Amino acid sequence: MPAPLIYLDHQATTPCAAEVVAAMEPHWNGGFGNPASRAHRIGLAAAAAVDIARERIASHLDVPPDWVVFTSGATEANNLALKGLAETAAAPGHLVSVVSEHRAVLDPLEDLRRRGWELTLLPVDPDGRLDPARLDAAITPDTRLVSVMAANNEIGVIQPLEAIGRLCRSRGVPWHCDAAQAFGHMALEPRRLGIDLLSLSGHKLYGPKGIGALVVAPEIRLHAQLHGGGQERGLRAGTLPVPLIAGLAEASALAQADRVERQQRCSELRQRLLTPLLELGDVVVNGSMEHRLAHNLSVTVRGVNGAALHRELRRSIACSSGSACSAGEPSHVLAALGRSRREAEASLRLSLGRQTSEGEVDAAGSRIADVVRQLRRDRPG
Ligand SMILES: Cc1ncc(COP(=O)(O)O)c(C=O)c1O
Repeated sequence: MPAPLIYLDHQATTPCAAEVVAAMEPHWNGGFGNPASRAHRIGLAAAAAVDIARERIASHLDVPPDWVVFTSGATEANNLALKGLAETAAAPGHLVSVVSEHRAVLDPLEDLRRRGWELTLLPVDPDGRLDPARLDAAITPDTRLVSVMAANNEIGVIQPLEAIGRLCRSRGVPWHCDAAQAFGHMALEPRRLGIDLLSLSGHKLYGPKGIGALVVAPEIRLHAQLHGGGQERGLRAGTLPVPLIAGLAEASALAQADRVERQQRCSELRQRLLTPLLELGDVVVNGSMEHRLAHNLSVTVRGVNGAALHRELRRSIACSSGSACSAGEPSHVLAALGRSRREAEASLRLSLGRQTSEGEVDAAGSRIADVVRQLRRDRPG
């Protein structure tokens, strides 16, 4: 029997926690009501379940519950934030973001650019972080929005959130932050940080797929992207998926409860995984180690063919070369750090999770080391 696959792709998605599945269970059948059906008890019970979930999530972010707008995930939340804000403007203006953002930010921004908006995409430093001075220099009187993510999906690098928040506040420009990878994995308080719009997703933190939220500060006006029944204060029409919402709230609570201990454990496991890789020589860590999600490791392995590396590892380790959502294109994030196409292809994103064990990390480290040595022997140089 082949050895079980070691799952090191938690930034692509996580398994749904057993507690989350249990929290969703009552809402599939018995508690199946439509929260918009206010005329009877079954609908009212569903509405109450949504209210409780909204309050729980809001309390974890330290915001009032009515800031939370449920969406189908972070992609939709980003689209609502970016296009929704732009569409309230009388005329196209200027937008600022960063080259290493997720496609779910870059693509809506590109859509706006085609509609006449001016778009500045700032570079990152070699460690993957945005220099706030560059942001300061890029903001003009015409800038309507800054969009900078909290933590990168490929290299796990955490942006200088406090400095960005201070800057956006002092320049009077709203800040949208894609926190799909950060929510539940690091402390995140939009009000304290000065984030006006924050996108989050359930399936990156042991919740269900197909649910997320946009957190919207009260001063922000958005144009809805889905029109219909007026749900979510008219910002996002559609019958609310009560089981998924209850699951998201439970996932958020679990993440809140074990976050500090999980971060500590993941950073120890990551070091354990990194040590045998560095011993190989010519292995470079992509992005800052200091400002980084504890469960992310991204390395470029020099002197091997990327396709061969991934082909050899596929049977024993589930990992990726970059984002799960970049449809085979070489990583634009690694390119932003100055990696060549060949280097980007010979890169590994290894993301750890709540269930990852020392044994798995040791097995993965030695398997990767064996494959790299073999490939370098077969095709030296
Ligand atoms: C940074 C970032 N933003 C947005 C998304 C999209 O999230 P969702 O799958 O909830 O639409 C992802 C998922 O990979 C992500 O990593």
